[in-house]
Amino acid sequence: MKTVSTLFDLGAARLSLNGMVGLVPTMGFLHEGHLSLIRRAKLECDSVVVSIFINPTQFGANEDLSKYPRDLARDLSLIEPLGVDLVWNPTAEEMYPAGYQTWVEVDALTRPLEGSIRTSHFKGVTTVVAKLFNAVQPHKAYFGQKDAQQAAVIRQMTRDLNFPIEIIVCPTTREADGLAMSSRNKYLEGADRPAATVLFRALSGAKSAYESGERNAEKLRIIMKDTLASEPHAQPQYISCADYDTLEELEVVSGKALLSMAVLVGKTRLIDNFVLG
Ligand code: PAF
Repeated sequence: MKTVSTLFDLGAARLSLNGMVGLVPTMGFLHEGHLSLIRRAKLECDSVVVSIFINPTQFGANEDLSKYPRDLARDLSLIEPLGVDLVWNPTAEEMYPAGYQTWVEVDALTRPLEGSIRTSHFKGVTTVVAKLFNAVQPHKAYFGQKDAQQAAVIRQMTRDLNFPIEIIVCPTTREADGLAMSSRNKYLEGADRPAATVLFRALSGAKSAYESGERNAEKLRIIMKDTLASEPHAQPQYISCADYDTLEELEVVSGKALLSMAVLVGKTRLIDNFVLG
């Protein structure tokens, strides 16, 4: 497994990759969810590139970039046995040199849900993903369903900017008790850890109501809200039952829909979602 940092070395290493190239973009501090994306890329591609870059531009002023967990040595030891061909770990200066001023922005899809709270987040995500796509030139790129809105926004950007890349969205990987895997779970301390299962419980409650025939979106939102309210450590930021493609809130669930939520559990902000239909 080759590890490079500069764009120059990445370009040289990319030339030696054969056939179908898959990219798994990450911010490091890898967990089983990331590893499942890499395994899928290995199954579907001839060569696999993993990028590890904590992208400063997707963190808001009130979000502590310096506290984001990082452990490159551990990340490399986790991915080496999976047969990854190339790891790209650029510096912030390499990605955003002095005088940097170009941004990629997706419009309506970035406004609701995460975008309503983390207002500059998706501008940072789409900009860095476009730069990763340009530098690596993969045929396929792999993202997790846990960040459902991110996946939708990246799909839109890929279509709108004619990137010849297939976006593959892989299922959320969960702990045995249902908690969606996330690098942020590391922050859950003491009673916050068991409390964090409330997201999965709330989504499961709404999903079983849907499966029993409930199609009123507000009733599904209320089921999620009531479950979250039963957990004193949980403070919801949004609870949504939206159209899967447009992410607009629904009155009636008639096609594919996204149940999603962002919840503060103690001081840790968690997101999760289920797809209906
Ligand atoms: O999902 C992530 O880890 C990041 O948002 C991504 C896609 C690697 C861009 O920095």
